[in-house]
Amino acid sequence: MQIKFIQLQKHGDERGSLVSLEEQKNIPFPIKRVYYLFGTKEGVRRGFHAHKTLKQVAISLRGSCRFLLDDGKEKIELLLDNPAQGLLIESMIWREMYDFSDDCVLLVLTDDYYDESDYIRSYEEFTNQAVSAIS
Ligand code: TYD
Repeated sequence: MQIKFIQLQKHGDERGSLVSLEEQKNIPFPIKRVYYLFGTKEGVRRGFHAHKTLKQVAISLRGSCRFLLDDGKEKIELLLDNPAQGLLIESMIWREMYDFSDDCVLLVLTDDYYDESDYIRSYEEFTNQAVSAIS
């Protein structure tokens, strides 16, 4: 599985830093929804789903958290701890997020509105669909 990180240009000077997110430019899709996770309690693991069609970019604006990404063939674990780095998560990728630092604010940009029917929340169903998509 190829993990796609997006290096976001940091406009920094003596006053501090600024990062700009633009649809179809540094964010490779039309941005229809933005949400963020914060105040995640210690020991919590969340996600546990894949999306049939949704694409997302996740950015840790503050603090850090770990991601497990799984395409049905391979699992990759990575740390997100840089507000100038976006993690592109394509559709049909199972994701879990964990080890949130107390101060973590995780921003997520998506290419569509919230739609429960786009979720695959059963890992078994996900692996069955992922395998049939590959073969
Ligand atoms: P959930 O899917 O459990 O979050 P995660 O997969 O990141 O652990 O979402 C938590 C709740 O928030 C759930 O009731 C659905 C709701 N929700 C929305 O209403 N809109 C959204 O854009 C998202 C992502 C979730």
